[in-house]
Amino acid sequence: MLTNLEHLGLAVHDLAAATALYTRLLGQAPYKTEHVASEAVDTVFFQVGGSKIELLAGTSPDSAISKFLEKKPEGIHHVAFEVDDIVAEMVRLKAEGFILLNEQPKRGADNKLVCFVHPKSAGGVLVELCQSVL
Ligand code: CO
Repeated sequence: MLTNLEHLGLAVHDLAAATALYTRLLGQAPYKTEHVASEAVDTVFFQVGGSKIELLAGTSPDSAISKFLEKKPEGIHHVAFEVDDIVAEMVRLKAEGFILLNEQPKRGADNKLVCFVHPKSAGGVLVELCQSVL
């Protein structure tokens, strides 16, 4: 079951500049920065009530964020929903005809197991499912 809008992922070119911008916009500093080697991204997280803003910058031309920014302007990259059982949700969404970008949950940023849903099956929006793990 989807339990919360966990975060919005925003693709940015310049992580330092974007971090400064969102610090001013949200009136608070980020609570975490994290490099995710498997995705070739640097991330910065802000808490906003029960949800978060995740800034993402590619660290290599091969990263999905770098490729996204070759085609599109900076802005919303994905919408992430918290789930209580990611495997069950992956099975459910697959049965509903959604295209999953990974067959197994994978380790994402901020202590999460994640799975992405292809935008072409989700109304043009890249959807992330995430389940907290310790
Ligand atoms: Co995310």
